[in-house]
Amino acid sequence: MQRFIDELKRTHRCGDLRASDVGKEVVLFGWAASRRDHGQCVFVDLRDRDGLTQIVFDPAFVPAGAAFDGASVKAAHALAEGVRGEWVLGVRGVVVSRGDKVNPKMATGEIEVHVIDACVFNKADTPPFEISDELDTREEVRLQYRYLDLRRAPLQHTLRVRHKLNQITRNYLSDQGCLELETPYMVKYTPGGARNFLVPSRTNRGKFFALAESPQLFKQLFMVAGFDRYFQIVKCFRDEDLRLDRQPEFTQIDVELSFVNQDDVFRVMEGLVFTIWKEVLGVDLKALFPTGRFPQMPFYESMEKYGNDKPDLRFGMPHVELTSLVIEHGGGGVPFFTEIAEKFTSGRYRRDLPSEIVKCMVIPASANLSRAEVDKLEELVKGMGAKGLARAKVGDDGGWTQSPLAKTITPALRDAINAAAGAKAGDLIVFQFGKEAVVQTVMANLRVHVAKKMGLIPEHGHGGKWQFLWVVDPPLFEYDDDKKTWAAAHHAFTRPHDDDVAKLETDPGKVKCYRYDLVLNGFEIGGGSIRLHDPEVQAKVFRALGISDAEAKEKFGFLLQALRYGAPPHGGIALGMDRVAMLLSGAESLRDVIPYPKTQKGTDLMTDAPTAVSPEQLGELSVRVLEAP
Ligand code: AMO
Repeated sequence: MQRFIDELKRTHRCGDLRASDVGKEVVLFGWAASRRDHGQCVFVDLRDRDGLTQIVFDPAFVPAGAAFDGASVKAAHALAEGVRGEWVLGVRGVVVSRGDKVNPKMATGEIEVHVIDACVFNKADTPPFEISDELDTREEVRLQYRYLDLRRAPLQHTLRVRHKLNQITRNYLSDQGCLELETPYMVKYTPGGARNFLVPSRTNRGKFFALAESPQLFKQLFMVAGFDRYFQIVKCFRDEDLRLDRQPEFTQIDVELSFVNQDDVFRVMEGLVFTIWKEVLGVDLKALFPTGRFPQMPFYESMEKYGNDKPDLRFGMPHVELTSLVIEHGGGGVPFFTEIAEKFTSGRYRRDLPSEIVKCMVIPASANLSRAEVDKLEELVKGMGAKGLARAKVGDDGGWTQSPLAKTITPALRDAINAAAGAKAGDLIVFQFGKEAVVQTVMANLRVHVAKKMGLIPEHGHGGKWQFLWVVDPPLFEYDDDKKTWAAAHHAFTRPHDDDVAKLETDPGKVKCYRYDLVLNGFEIGGGSIRLHDPEVQAKVFRALGISDAEAKEKFGFLLQALRYGAPPHGGIALGMDRVAMLLSGAESLRDVIPYPKTQKGTDLMTDAPTAVSPEQLGELSVRVLEAP
């Protein structure tokens, strides 16, 4: 008997063989996906990453022409009788046609392999769940045995998509003249942005590295160093609260380019996205975006119409801003509105935009929501921090019913709202008013929730629609209500619009900047900016942020210094690779597209990390744990 692996090399994978291979002698390696004993013969579906092949162990098999040993056929059959699920096997056999018993569900369904010789490489314990495509096993169990979960075809497919994504990205970006360069993971802690994981240094006791939340500063330094164009497919680490689209450890396709403006960055990334969609999905985005360009929307428009900066444009139902209208009408008889209008006219707001706003959205009559369903919507928004869900059903004459607002509102304001919202008879208008941040979040979530309920978009996945959008021109600063200061909305190195530089000193809230996000179907899949390379403007930005020269030097000294040694104009972007993979494959969560993900609580169930460490280890690091975990 020849020895598998050493002498008998694999000739094919388990998804390869077709009718044209009939008569060939082949060697396959794989896992026993199923085993059926049909009296004389044993049938095993052998699985590897490429598919399944039906293997027949027939003790009476006499192959035509093959080097043949009757004893090995019989031994193989005896061995097959003991085989169980997930055992690892090697088989040598002959490809035989299944004749009229073709299995159309299997790519290899025209053939089967009749065994001449077989070996068991390894036995397997009974797995805690079946290795099948459809599975309703609890996710915790699947994550605990992730290597078995990954054996399933859907996850095998997903990880192949990631492989492809990596290859396409590398080829495309290096064709664009980008060099693939590496940056450190253990870096200096710099404030701002996401919370960092900290790494205590044993050799420099009492001091800490941070795990890089992105290669941001280093890629900028590559530009200063003259590398001109860079990319990296890189792990980033952020100690954030987790969501379905957030992992503490995730992958970016990170790009930085010298001598570019915003539009140049967009073109490079649009080219990459078009290539990915074509090569991974076979979808030609030219059909949707004939110019090869994605549409752009100013940040303020996105906030006004959709309540956030990542609108899902697969459906309409925009929000309608009513604040000015309500103020114009002095509140129009509605107590809450009057309060807002009075605050505004009495000049209690520092900013030109009141921080309390009024918005509405029209749920069309076609949604056919019952009262009970609308009550459920109210419960939902309360869960998001809203006080309630004011609403009004529009009658034939434009009058409002089913609404506490209807009792006091002036006909003039009511008609003006109907007109502004384009509300028709039978439509339901839903309102939010109060603190801007809450109103925006609630209305943004409500819009998506209602769209799902109305079947305008599926619960998960793309539904065959790909709505890409650049959200552009956001403000450089946002006001920190708690600290009563301006804070950098992104980071302190984003370039303001040239026309707005004068406002840095006089009216910081109005300064827009070259920062952009790429949005797909309501998910932010990328973000970046043109950087500030001019030390003079940089100094003004720090002043507007209330950061002193000494503080700037302490926090960002190395970058500021580098910018003084001839920094070229530059800018870049990072795509969230996991989010791209999730949307491409229609997965529900990032956990479905990351090989070894963390749970919602940031733990790894397979290895049981994080764990406590010994007092000796902590001692070496001069670290003391204050509270028992
Ligand atoms: P930003 O912070 O916008 O930009 O990140 C870029 C993209 O990375 C993805 N992303 C995440 N994906 C999964 N889990 C997370 N916790 C997570 N956080 C972010 C998003 C996001 O759009 N250095 C800048 C880029 C630049 O300016 O060039 C940066 O990191 O899809």
